[in-house]
Amino acid sequence: MIEIKDLKKCYGERTVLDIPYLKIDENETVAFAGANGSGKTTLLRILAGMIKKSDGTVDVPEKILYMPQQSYAFRGDLIKNITVGNSQKEKAEELLEKLELSHLTDKKAVSLSGGELQRLSLCRVLSRKCELLLLDEPTSACDARGAELVIKAIKEYKNENGCAVLMSTHSPVLALNSADRLIILNGGRIEADGRPKEVLNNPGTEWAKSFIAGWKTDA
Ligand SMILES: Nc1ncnc2c1ncn2[C@@H]1O[C@H](COP(=O)(O)OP(=O)(O)O)[C@@H](O)[C@H]1O
Ligand SMILES: [Mg+2]
Repeated sequence: MIEIKDLKKCYGERTVLDIPYLKIDENETVAFAGANGSGKTTLLRILAGMIKKSDGTVDVPEKILYMPQQSYAFRGDLIKNITVGNSQKEKAEELLEKLELSHLTDKKAVSLSGGELQRLSLCRVLSRKCELLLLDEPTSACDARGAELVIKAIKEYKNENGCAVLMSTHSPVLALNSADRLIILNGGRIEADGRPKEVLNNPGTEWAKSFIAGWKTDA
């Protein structure tokens, strides 16, 4: 279970995250949406223990995996890029197959396209086990097929491992097809929270309504 109480993150005078209370179950998949700068990455980074909160308490499980918004590659081929650390070669091969990257196995990872690199980045994360999976815009560089593969891989990982998944996204497709719950952030605050379909159909506040309206036409 993840429990957040009175969480605040400030940069100087500016509060970029302000969450009085949020509880997420150990098996829940939650999508966070919101405009650029609404605090999605900041929240995921705090949960991952990468940056410090300014105030409040955050309870998270011990084993956490985090996929950053910016994908990266190490020198070497795709397998090496996945197994870096301690995961197994067989698992890496299975994931490359699943994410339709097998034909690129012998290529240098640094030569991949943006969408391929993002899927490789997901393979690296999914080759390990965790209790909490944090994914920062996991389909942002993907085309429709790539996004479909990512969504499927996340679901399968969750079925195999049983963990909580928190992801930020600008994709209504990702939210609708893979999340149990959609939370919309506005200026670091929770503006809407509920089942994705319900939030999309009945956003609650006027602000959320206009955000969703823009979201739907962009998709
Ligand atoms: N190191 C930092 N110093 C100052 N401001 C920051 C820093 N990191 C993030 N911010 C600000 O915090 C706000 C939230 O950023 P972020 O969490 O990256 O938003 P999102 O991921 O939703 O686009 C933004 O206004 C951003 O400029
Ligand atoms: Mg971000």
